[in-house]
Amino acid sequence: MSRNNILWVDEKTLSKDVSGKVYIVTGANSGVGLETTRQLVKQGGHVIMACRRPEAAEEVAESFTGLKGTYEVMRLDLADLQSVRDFVAEFLKKQDKLDALVCNAGLVTMGSEVKRTKDTFEMAIGVSYFGH
Ligand SMILES: NC(=O)c1ccc[n+]([C@@H]2O[C@H](COP(=O)([O-])OP(=O)(O)OC[C@H]3O[C@@H](n4cnc5c(N)ncnc54)[C@H](OP(=O)(O)O)[C@@H]3O)[C@@H](O)[C@H]2O)c1
Repeated sequence: MSRNNILWVDEKTLSKDVSGKVYIVTGANSGVGLETTRQLVKQGGHVIMACRRPEAAEEVAESFTGLKGTYEVMRLDLADLQSVRDFVAEFLKKQDKLDALVCNAGLVTMGSEVKRTKDTFEMAIGVSYFGH
């Protein structure tokens, strides 16, 4: 079967109006996180792009111009639980609800040297799991 015949998400879901919904997408500045953000903004949602490099997120978000929904960039380093606490405090000041949290940010660690988060968790599980 050709790739064109694979239905990843049905058209009804992709065209649903999600105006008024608030989302957080972690790692929203690239890859799957960026495309998930773009789709939600396209459908009218408000997406908080939770990224460790806010400037990278602001740059890619320029491509959302003209889409129905809105976005904002907030700093979040999932390898630092204090950054997670700061993010949550800031989020609660601005929003009174969250419709969905997309736990997308993550990384693959390579090589024999063990990398650790600020809180000394092994990096991959610290970012992908404990941070979220
Ligand atoms: N693509 C695949 O084939 C595949 C397969 C299996 C699983 N996955 C998982 O699916 C997710 C998305 O994959 P992808 O290919 O779109 O990955 P990607 O393009 O490498 O994007 C990963 C995102 O996670 C962010 N991130 C990394 N460490 C972070 C931290 N400490 N705090 C906050 N954000 C952090 C990155 O930020 P920076 O830009 O600042 O680095 C980036 O925005 C990842 O969790 C990945 O492990 C992907």
